[in-house]
This record gives sequence, structure tokens and C-alpha cells, in this order.
Amino acid sequence: MGAARALIAVYVFFFDNNIERKTRNFNSLGLAVAIEENVVIEFKNVDVTFDEKVVLRNVSFQIRKGEKFVLVGPSGQGKSIVLKLIAGLLEPTAGEVIVNGLNINRISNEEKNQLVLKMGMLFQKNALFDSLTVGENIAFPLREIKKISEKEIQKKVNYFLHEVAIPHAKNLYPDEISGGMQKRLGIARALALEPEIVLYDDPTAGLDPITSRRIINLINWLQFEQNSTVVAITNEMNRAYQLGHTIALVAEEEILVTGDEDDTKKNKDERVIQFINGKLFGPLTEIQ
Ligand SMILES: Nc1ncnc2c1ncn2[C@@H]1O[C@H](COP(=O)(O)OP(=O)(O)OP(=O)(O)O)[C@@H](O)[C@H]1O
Ligand SMILES: [Mg+2]
Repeated sequence: MGAARALIAVYVFFFDNNIERKTRNFNSLGLAVAIEENVVIEFKNVDVTFDEKVVLRNVSFQIRKGEKFVLVGPSGQGKSIVLKLIAGLLEPTAGEVIVNGLNINRISNEEKNQLVLKMGMLFQKNALFDSLTVGENIAFPLREIKKISEKEIQKKVNYFLHEVAIPHAKNLYPDEISGGMQKRLGIARALALEPEIVLYDDPTAGLDPITSRRIINLINWLQFEQNSTVVAITNEMNRAYQLGHTIALVAEEEILVTGDEDDTKKNKDERVIQFINGKLFGPLTEIQ
């Protein structure tokens, strides 16, 4: 084990300073004992089918601790489904979804609750509580889940409102704040439980470029601060590059992990080329 670690260190030192990319190669060389321990999310041969409609077929991939994994792809191809599978909100038709080493669909309710508490999710439509104020939207899950005093709850609410730069909106209702502020509130609510895994469904959808950039910076900063594992969805490639360590295209029932920005731009798959360049014609045109 010590020798394998030393070998890895020497290899990384002499041959590449991009440790992240090389760890994947180590995987294929079978030297990845220590690295395997870092896998937080794993899909093994996952199928999702609704009635006759196949959404995902035989999908396998891994996400490691502290990684930012960004899903892109045409509408209706299964991006939100992937997040719902990770959060245990949906069970695959076949295959396994493993989170922190546990098959999320084969554990007791008690174990599943414990696991879900380690995750925070920003839903595509924010899913805010309309009848609660901005501050109460963050306080509510804290009260339900964390056994902490009201004073500590308010301290956390104020801290996270400050982190997402909307402290002035604390006593307003969701329909009294702008779309960008609603997104930021959704992010604050997802983060208030200090999750190890954060799932963001389209955090910049419908926002102006400046607000979008602020939200990306915020997500990156909070990920860095908390060393969380992030799985995010976006359809804008620039946002994907700004967000991601790793990019994956969800299309035609598959998930193609294309790597970082450079690797994604060099990818030879026609579907990847069409999507990242926004070309009107190509293999993805057929499926729209
Ligand atoms: N509960 C469900 N029952 C039946 N079909 C569903 C269900 N949820 C999703 N689907 C179908 O699965 C496919 C993938 O849906 P999904 O929401 O993951 O798409 P998406 O890639 O997130 O799209 P968008 O970019 O538009 O948000 C769609 O065809 C959708 O209609
Ligand atoms: Mg979606």
C-alpha cells in the first residue's frame, strides 16, 4: 500500500501536475485503492424507464469528494432525473445508485434519512415555501432537523442570507423578491444544513449574465469553503466551464463524461461537438 502511494506520488510529480485528471488514469491502471475511497457518488449500470420511455440506459460514472460535476445536455434528456436519483427521490428501474458507499435504495428508512441529511438540493423551480418569509424559508428545515436553539437558528439564517447577499430581504415573501434573489434564497436554504453533497438544478436559469456570474462565484466559493461535493446542471457552456472540474453530457439515454474544459473542447463525439458549439444541425437535432 505504502509502495503504491509512493509510486503514485512519483508519477504525479514527474509526469503531470494535473493530479485530478491523472487519478482517473490510475483508476484504469488498477492502482486506485486510496482514490476509490474518495468516491462519494457512483452510478452502476443505471436504467430509468417510464412506461415505455427509456430515459437512461446502462449509465455508470463516479463522482469524487470535493469534485464539481456539471451535467449539460438538451432539454428532456434526463439531467434532473440524475439529481433526483442521487437525492433518493426516484428509484432507478435497474442498477445501483451508491452514495457514501451505500445503495440509497437498499438501506433502511433510518439510514436513508441520515444520508439525505448530508445533501442539499436547489430544485429547478426553487420549491420555496410561498407562505413563509425569506428568513423562515431557511429556518424551517433547520428547526425540523437540527436540534439547536432558536438563537442559533437565527444566527445561521443571518449568516447564510449574508453569504448569498440578500440579508435585506429577510422579512419579505418569495413573491416579493426577484428571480435572482429567489435562486439565491434556494441556494441559502440548500446550504443551511451544511451538506457534504450539494445538488444544483439549473442555478442560473433565466438570470441576467451578471447575476448568473455572481451565483456561479457564490457556488464556487461555498464549495471551496465547505469542501463539499457539487453536482450541478446548466445548459450554458460558459457557466459549465466556470463551474466545473468535470463536465458530462446527458443525451440519448447516455452520460458521456467529457472531462475538464480543455478535454471537453477536444472531444471528438459528434454530439458533444454539436452541443458545446450550439450547432443547429447534428445528431442531437434528431432527438429534439
Ligand atoms: N415522473 C415522471 N414520469 C414520467 N416521465 C418523467 C418523469 N420525470 C421525468 N420524466 C421524463 O423524463 C425525461 C427526462 O426528464 P428530465 O426532467 O430529467 O429532463 P431534463 O434533462 O432535466 O430537461 P430540462 O433541461 O428541460 O430541465 C423527460 O422526457 C420527462 O418527460
Ligand atoms: Mg431539468
